Amino acid sequence: MPVKKLTDLRELSGKRVFIRADLNVPQDEAGNITEDTRIKASLPSIQYALAQGAAVMATSHLGRPAEGRVGPEDTLSPIAVRLSQLLQKPVRLLRDWVAGGFTLMPGEVVLLENCRCNVGEKKDSEELARKMAALCDVYVNDAFGAAHRAEATTHGIARFAPVACAGILMSAEIDALSRALRAPARPLVAVVGGAKVSSKLTILRSLAEKVDQLIVGGGIANTFLLASGKRIGESLAEPDLVKEAHVIMDVMRARGADVPLPVDVVVADEVSALARANKISVDEVGPHDRILDVGPKSAAHLAQIVAHAGAIVWNGPVGVFEYAQFAGGTKMLASAIAHSQAFSIAGGGDTLAAIAKFNIASDVGYISTGGGAFLEFLEGKTLPAIEVLEARFS
Ligand code: 3PG
Repeated sequence: MPVKKLTDLRELSGKRVFIRADLNVPQDEAGNITEDTRIKASLPSIQYALAQGAAVMATSHLGRPAEGRVGPEDTLSPIAVRLSQLLQKPVRLLRDWVAGGFTLMPGEVVLLENCRCNVGEKKDSEELARKMAALCDVYVNDAFGAAHRAEATTHGIARFAPVACAGILMSAEIDALSRALRAPARPLVAVVGGAKVSSKLTILRSLAEKVDQLIVGGGIANTFLLASGKRIGESLAEPDLVKEAHVIMDVMRARGADVPLPVDVVVADEVSALARANKISVDEVGPHDRILDVGPKSAAHLAQIVAHAGAIVWNGPVGVFEYAQFAGGTKMLASAIAHSQAFSIAGGGDTLAAIAKFNIASDVGYISTGGGAFLEFLEGKTLPAIEVLEARFS
């Protein structure tokens, strides 16, 4: 269903525009921002509203704070500084903003302190949502990364604001992800890597119904190897989910689709930068080995699959790519995705880190800023923040 878009609105001059962004960025222990993609991705909506003569108030959650107070680790203060640098204009940080009473001129931007510290935010309190809606003429949701949360700034406020629309980032995310899933060019190839089947079970089940090839990687692949009767030594796996892995492979097979499993692997006896890696056949894995990457033959096979894909969805690495000796599989996969003619979308923290490490950002069709939201969208779930915008469409 359609949503109203910020860029459909032309009459913003003098209007108070409330932008819910996802500025939940990683910080080091001293509070320095270590990765600012989400802040940069939030700029176009802010700049668009400013260019139209609006007065802009933006907010975001940061972390998962307790409600009712803003602790030192909860403040958006470092984000206000970075936003101000990127916008090249002052960005005031406002505390205790829910009741309003602050001045805001057209052309000005204020950042409203961590919205998740407000009492009632997480429970999507109607009282809080109404108060926030009263602050603005136009509500813009640009927080795709939080679209799977029904909270007062992502959901409730959209019900009561005079106008509710999707920001530029939110619209781009919805368009790209829908394009990859609704009528994908075939073969549709999904890569789902990461440590645990349990954390990705719903996405694996849902993709098994849709994709032509389901490439599994990391600890997830180990559980699938167990399911196919291979020995995996001391590798990370979830034996209690072997049955689930079977079901997924059966569903795929019944559709004429496939879960390609590694024929060779890279093993070591520990996960560390100094570990000695051995490339062996998957049939040679010893009792004390830990599988930490796919081997070169398997990586080449995965690259072949990707090269012939019509569309690619990527979430999660296929090895412990943080260490050079276990990075080969993910590197080859990343390079194959970068060189493929297929429309590719990627999302999730580890995937973004791999994309940055192997320097392929400009060769991926679309990189989502969502983690959990990206996965839930791929699962075909209705995201509450998008649903409420659809309901407001007129
Ligand atoms: C994320 O980092 O995935 C989003 O900002 C959502 O954060 P949350 O899981 O704390 O709601």
